[in-house]
Amino acid sequence: MADEETQKEKRVETIEDLQGISENILSKIKEAGYDIESVAASMPAELVEATGIGLNTAVKVIAAAKQAVEPSYEDGAVLLDRRKLIEKISTGSEELNQLLGGGIETQAITEAFGRFGSGKSQLGFQLCVNVQLPKDKGGLDGAALLIDSENTFRPERLAQMAQAKGLDADETLKRVFVARAKNSDHQILLVQKASELIKEKNIKIIVVDSLMSAFRNDYIGRGTLQVRQGRLNNHLHDLQRLAEQFNLAIYVTNQVMDRPDILFGDPTTPVGGNIVAHQSTYRMYFRRSKEDRRISKLVDSPSLPDGECVFTVSTDGIGDL
Ligand SMILES: Nc1ncnc2c1ncn2[C@@H]1O[C@H](COP(=O)(O)OP(=O)(O)OP(=O)(O)O)[C@@H](O)[C@H]1O
Ligand SMILES: [Mg+2]
Repeated sequence: MADEETQKEKRVETIEDLQGISENILSKIKEAGYDIESVAASMPAELVEATGIGLNTAVKVIAAAKQAVEPSYEDGAVLLDRRKLIEKISTGSEELNQLLGGGIETQAITEAFGRFGSGKSQLGFQLCVNVQLPKDKGGLDGAALLIDSENTFRPERLAQMAQAKGLDADETLKRVFVARAKNSDHQILLVQKASELIKEKNIKIIVVDSLMSAFRNDYIGRGTLQVRQGRLNNHLHDLQRLAEQFNLAIYVTNQVMDRPDILFGDPTTPVGGNIVAHQSTYRMYFRRSKEDRRISKLVDSPSLPDGECVFTVSTDGIGDL
């Protein structure tokens, strides 16, 4: 484990180790949110646009990065062995669990997007409680890490949900580690520095509520979009890496924006573009229905049929009709 970790850390840092490139250039690239892999995979024009370096330099840097990146292949048997460890956390609703093929999966990123009040944060709080339950009750006997970027975490609400599950509220709250992300850089850092806490406290879920709001605040305007997407991409890679390394679940909430170009059907779309679309293993679209009812729609899952279900958000938390 320790070896694997140092290897991973070394790999992320090697952007500084690129030979024959000036420090000034390297720091511009780093600032734009690139790591060695994303440089190796990028096109020269894209790197120029995102970093402001010259075209010839970009070509040179990409070539150097390509050479430096060791392809890390794993055989199918190793992958299968790792996938055998996948576990699931109950959402609190049987319907929602079924839609997701059993619950919120470890080694994957599950995203819920929807308008305000659709239940995205409520599910995040519920998962922080449920993960603590024993395995035969839908939990993983673990703790939770919650990154709150909108300042909407309410311990009282979590206590309410814990009591509804027959848990001691104080004990439950002690196993939820909350950090308020001040901005997107801080949010990135909170994830990059999480390994120690994950090991020490047996964290089995990381909730990021919400994924995009800090990024949207920090990168305003068209010109910065490419930089934002680069950093977001790395951030999601960091999360996925933790999910696999520690066999834990990642749950992120996401906002929607209106698409005035859509005349028929639902005019809302999740923010974050293709980067988030590609990196979320499971995407759910939450909508409000009558009273405490919510509709969840599964979108673009790699292994599950698209479908819809109804769940509820009540005083006791997430449940069924
Ligand atoms: N204690 C409670 N008892 C019953 N229902 C509650 C309680 N707390 C919250 N809710 C329900 O949850 C809703 C809020 O949902 P939630 O906080 O998950 O929204 P969200 O999807 O995260 O929205 P946003 O985009 O604004 O963050 C409330 O409008 C209410 O319907
Ligand atoms: Mg919310």
